[in-house]
Amino acid sequence: MKTIQIRASREYSVLIDSGLLSHLGDEAAKIRNPGKAAIISDSNVWPLYGRMAAASLEKAGFATEKFVFPAGENSKNGATYLSLLNFLAEKHITRSDFIIALGGGVVGDLAGFAAATYLRGIDYIQVPTTLLAAVDSSVGGKTAIDLPAGKNLAGCFYQPRLVLCDTDTLTTLPEEIFRDGCAEVIKYGILYDPQLFAHLEQTGLSFDREAVIARCVGLKRDAVEADEFDLGLRMKLNLGHTLGHSIEKISNFAISHGKAVAIGMALVTKAAKCPDTGRIADCITAFGLPITTDFSAADLLSAALSDKKRAGDSVNLIIPQAIGQCVIQSTPVTELLSFIEAGL
Ligand code: NAD
Ligand code: GLY
Repeated sequence: MKTIQIRASREYSVLIDSGLLSHLGDEAAKIRNPGKAAIISDSNVWPLYGRMAAASLEKAGFATEKFVFPAGENSKNGATYLSLLNFLAEKHITRSDFIIALGGGVVGDLAGFAAATYLRGIDYIQVPTTLLAAVDSSVGGKTAIDLPAGKNLAGCFYQPRLVLCDTDTLTTLPEEIFRDGCAEVIKYGILYDPQLFAHLEQTGLSFDREAVIARCVGLKRDAVEADEFDLGLRMKLNLGHTLGHSIEKISNFAISHGKAVAIGMALVTKAAKCPDTGRIADCITAFGLPITTDFSAADLLSAALSDKKRAGDSVNLIIPQAIGQCVIQSTPVTELLSFIEAGL
């Protein structure tokens, strides 16, 4: 098992191993005496792993409740959030209980936001079941829901008490969704780690999952510990995300987060005239991810202007200068259209 310690406003462990889900109850009981555990999951993940999670918690002495919502980004909204809060209240979940986020990034973001706000904050455990959630969204405490105006526009920073990543759960992921997570893995290579990038170029999809997840979580730990509240260095994790979020939004979320980020990374790399543009595009393509979009520069700009990474009259773009070396560049909104055009 790999264990990575995160020292942010709250200290917690990220555990990564195969077969960990059956130890969820024991790991939760190490944090506090068993009370209730409200398992939040989606309509795809619950039938696969809900019973195993509940059985493990119950064996350790927790009484479990479940809240299952329709899978997909379209559920990460105010309506699902409010019905989740009502559910927690109706089930008399208290501040001495746990929320368990069992699923991908949608479950983790939504359940985390509910945990942060219900009773002004109760403890939660992230149990990521997608590659994207394992390497990114389950770690670092960003929680959110989407608003009609854009992605993740309501949310807060709220660190979990534990992240338990059972790599066996990734075996049931449809390949397309696994590839989506690979976009975030490639992102870490472009941002920080030429060796990781070269490894991905060599192995393609068959990379060593436990080792690569642990490496990505370690890189994310460094970013979160340096800048938990996203005021500086952590912003780099948004490589490809400003245009990625625009693409998701214009497509009404028909284009997944991973694919949108892959396109966003390719566009921004090309627009910045990075000397590694070809290598980056080839690697993204080798993972079966897209590098182009048919959306116009004007539509991408308009969606980008409502992105939360906008700061007044400028947008912080993450610019790759080479593989493993990226900078944060404050770009005036007036220059954004020509920048996007250069990337298309
Ligand atoms: P997701 O949660 O929608 O999962 C993708 C699909 O896979 C869903 O249909 C889900 O039901 C299914 N699924 C999940 N686990 C499965 C498994 N083990 N077997 C079979 N099917 C499974 O999407 P995602 O890609 O995990 O996450 C995307 C979300 O994460 C977006 O909302 C994005 O904004 C958010 N995100 C948040 C952060 C953060 O730091 N909080 C970082 C990156 C992305
Ligand atoms: N996924 C971006 C971040 O956690 O900051």
